[in-house]
Amino acid sequence: MATQTYPIEIKPVSESRLRGLDINNVPFGRLFSDHMLVATYDEGSWNPATILPYGKLEMSPSISALHYGQAVFEGMKAYKGPAGEALLFRPQANFERINRSAARLCMPPIPEEIFLDGLRELVRLDANWIPTRPGSALYIRPIYFATDESIGLRPSQEYILAIICCPVGAYYAEPVKLTVTREYVRAFPGGTGAAKAAGNYAASLLADRLAKQQGYDNVLWLDGVDQTYIEECGTMNVFFVIDGVVITPPLGGTILPGITRDSIITLLKEQGRPVEERRIALTEILAAHKQGRLQEAFGAGTAATIAQIETIAIDGVELNLEVTGEGQYGARLLKHLDEIKTGKREDHHGWMMEV
Ligand code: COI
Repeated sequence: MATQTYPIEIKPVSESRLRGLDINNVPFGRLFSDHMLVATYDEGSWNPATILPYGKLEMSPSISALHYGQAVFEGMKAYKGPAGEALLFRPQANFERINRSAARLCMPPIPEEIFLDGLRELVRLDANWIPTRPGSALYIRPIYFATDESIGLRPSQEYILAIICCPVGAYYAEPVKLTVTREYVRAFPGGTGAAKAAGNYAASLLADRLAKQQGYDNVLWLDGVDQTYIEECGTMNVFFVIDGVVITPPLGGTILPGITRDSIITLLKEQGRPVEERRIALTEILAAHKQGRLQEAFGAGTAATIAQIETIAIDGVELNLEVTGEGQYGARLLKHLDEIKTGKREDHHGWMMEV
């Protein structure tokens, strides 16, 4: 049988919206680049993708993603290299993760040709939208959702994959303040915590709002079984440094397998620094802080990259952490990763893909 191919049709804008815009100074996620990619799935197979001017998608109010949340997404970034070339950071890892998320939500896999080749074409076309200010990037958001016009609960038979892009600066302008929530959990064994499912983010909003009302930026999430162990923070994976050892909770179904998380662990191991993926109890953090052994904590994610943690509130007790000290891991890792992403440091992992 001949292998199926997916030629990409390109319908470029007649005039770019870039003129007159300062893409180095835009709020996160509000300004979208000229083009988007759209691919549809129906009758058991994918149709070739189209890259067209960014705009509205027409759909019925009965589509199942709106009713039952059969929707997953990704977050990834493109940077400018030294010669002005557009570079994607670990797109293969995002491709693999969206298909793992899709499998968890009973959605068919996206072919590599549509996702990766489409992404490269899209970013090539909108390369002028990549900001160059330090800490900025072109944020790329693939969304994949169910479009059956039916409110019977079952896996949809029709889907849309859309990829949109927006120039972004820092997600957090300052180190973050976190508070533990005892009322809500982000994930639980057997749930969808390891998938980048849209519903996970909707379910986090109330706890996040309550945290903000109390003066914090985000929630420090505990495990969903007995609220003993730390899992994630806000929309990021979390790292602690205790006695010079970098510790992060292990993957295992309830934690999002972050690509920044994986990159940090890889770099630390290569540098011969002690790094442990293991469960961390809240009581361990409290004790380490009391004994002066908790040196630092930071969150890691695509949008936020690496965000230093300034405060952790636990049941009314505030732990204040060092955020600017000499040789902090968070700052060093952020610099190292930024240098790889912008082509200033050799990419011996093969993480960067030129479009
Ligand atoms: C990301 O870090 O890329 C995410 O998807 C989190 C989102 C809330 C911006």
